[in-house]
Amino acid sequence: MLKIAPSLLSADMARLAEAVESIASSADYVHCDVMDGHFVPNLTFGAPVVGAVKKVSSLPLDVHLMIEHPGRWIKDYLDAGLDSEDFLTFHVEAEFDPEAIISRIRQTGVRPGIAIKPNTSFEQFEGLIELVDQVLIMTVEPGFGGQKFMHDMLTKVKMTRQMSKLVVIGIDGGIDKNTAHLAVEAGADLLIAGSAIFGHSDPQSAIAEIRRSIGE
Ligand code: DX5
Ligand code: ZN
Repeated sequence: MLKIAPSLLSADMARLAEAVESIASSADYVHCDVMDGHFVPNLTFGAPVVGAVKKVSSLPLDVHLMIEHPGRWIKDYLDAGLDSEDFLTFHVEAEFDPEAIISRIRQTGVRPGIAIKPNTSFEQFEGLIELVDQVLIMTVEPGFGGQKFMHDMLTKVKMTRQMSKLVVIGIDGGIDKNTAHLAVEAGADLLIAGSAIFGHSDPQSAIAEIRRSIGE
């Protein structure tokens, strides 16, 4: 089953509740990009805003942490209201012991995920695949919306799918009606899209266009 997660990074930050409402009937998750200005050269929002979004969202959240030391913040996201329907995903390079962070997230009942930057090789995360609910493969350098899809990353998607039929493979960066089918053919089943959806005058029809482009 293919799922779509619009990224709030491209939404109007003063109107997040309206953005969530605008996609509630056609998307599957709400993707929240947390950036700390250190792990990536951009700054967005943290647990208080994620908690506020959680309160107004009928859809589960796909929380993508682009921050250093994500382990320090797990409790804040739990206190913000994340539950067993939501993903909490961190970048494998952001902690010395990613396995420990995965099991701590698992213990809270939230679904753990790992995110993979373009320069991170398959070998660096293959041992973690069976421990997580999502592998989020980045097809742009993390930090900004509206960048060009990196086709080379599809090899990692295929290798991850070969390793596990069950894990959710998220694909994040440059996804639109022209690239979505490439991601799906490689084995991705969660399409994350920011500018293609919230940069569109009608986010709902943007989602419909993406679904049509992959024959749904
Ligand atoms: C980038 C973020 C993405 C971003 C994608 O670091 O992780 O989720 O919103 O934006 P688009 O879809 O515009 O490439
Ligand atoms: Zn993201």
